[in-house]
Amino acid sequence: MMEAVHEDGGYDRNKELKLFDETKAGVKGLVDAGLTKLPKIFVHDNHKVNVSSFSSATNVTIPVIDLGSLHEEGNSRHEIIQKVKDAGENWGFFHVVNHDIPQCVLDEMLDGVRRFHEQDAEVKREFYSRDITKRVFYNTHFNFYKASEVNWRDTLSCLLAPGPLDPHQLPCICRDVTIKYLDHVKKLALTLLELFSEALGLERSYLKDIDCAKGIFMLGHYYPPCPEPELTWGLSSHTDVGFVTILLQDLVGGLQVFYENQWIDVTPIPGAFIINLGNMMQLITNDKFISVKHRVLAQKVGPRVSVSCSLRQHVQDECLRMYGPIKELVTKENPPIYKEMKMSDLVKLAYTKELDDDVSLLKHFRI
Ligand code: OGA
Ligand code: NI
Repeated sequence: MMEAVHEDGGYDRNKELKLFDETKAGVKGLVDAGLTKLPKIFVHDNHKVNVSSFSSATNVTIPVIDLGSLHEEGNSRHEIIQKVKDAGENWGFFHVVNHDIPQCVLDEMLDGVRRFHEQDAEVKREFYSRDITKRVFYNTHFNFYKASEVNWRDTLSCLLAPGPLDPHQLPCICRDVTIKYLDHVKKLALTLLELFSEALGLERSYLKDIDCAKGIFMLGHYYPPCPEPELTWGLSSHTDVGFVTILLQDLVGGLQVFYENQWIDVTPIPGAFIINLGNMMQLITNDKFISVKHRVLAQKVGPRVSVSCSLRQHVQDECLRMYGPIKELVTKENPPIYKEMKMSDLVKLAYTKELDDDVSLLKHFRI
């Protein structure tokens, strides 16, 4: 099903998209070719121009949660859980530091993604695809043909869990580090799910037991420097679909999150992860925890690299488990506001919709 061709004084948008897609060289290919003006497919509507070019004017920052004392005796676990509860209820976004994953693994992972995107174009184009049933592929802007403007970004997508993942499906240039990184991220994911469970007043293993950590979908983003950053986005405003996203960014910056009616910068903290709650978490907690909008600016500086690992199932894993608001969290006064659904329903919806300011896909599952 194709969207309408946008005819505009002879300009055939669909043709432009197709020509760009067929190069299989991504945004990186345009930058390598020395482009100085943005092709029209990347230019977003005029009304957005004014907002996109400004970084936030406020000094408000997302909470930072130190996991270093998690295993110590005393009150520290309780204090961490209180902070996680506050962040889940009011922010949907926070940094974690002292998470036990060695700095060299973080550096190598970011470097692996950078190397993937900067490798020989002929090798890379073998991975170029828009077939979302593949476990591993790369492209520019996942729903390219549906979006009103294409984002200034190339992304390597890898479905890392559930298995079976044949390591040979991963690009050779970042295979070993991805496997090592996955091992660490899985442990951090379980630690976080324990904290979220307890912050919700549930048994420590509750969220793990309902398979919240079963799927891991990794995105290796590469945001090349942009010659006209005020005309486009690195990543349009959206909320994530999974339960939790564990996001690693390099030190370039450009990520913003929507908090109390304004966009605030998520300034990089070396060695930290950004933890971001997704739509599924909001659904199973019956809106107790929130999933908030975020976006990435296009910038003159770059490339910027980030690695996002979302705890979520994907389209090909027909997860038979039904999810709805957790029974223990609903009462007569606080009745369920969402229907029971399959996670794949939400994921499929996310791939057919445009990323947009009015993003909550959750509205489709409201009672
Ligand atoms: C995402 C995301 C932000 C970034 O992958 O969903 O929001 O910094 N990424 O790349
Ligand atoms: Ni996101």
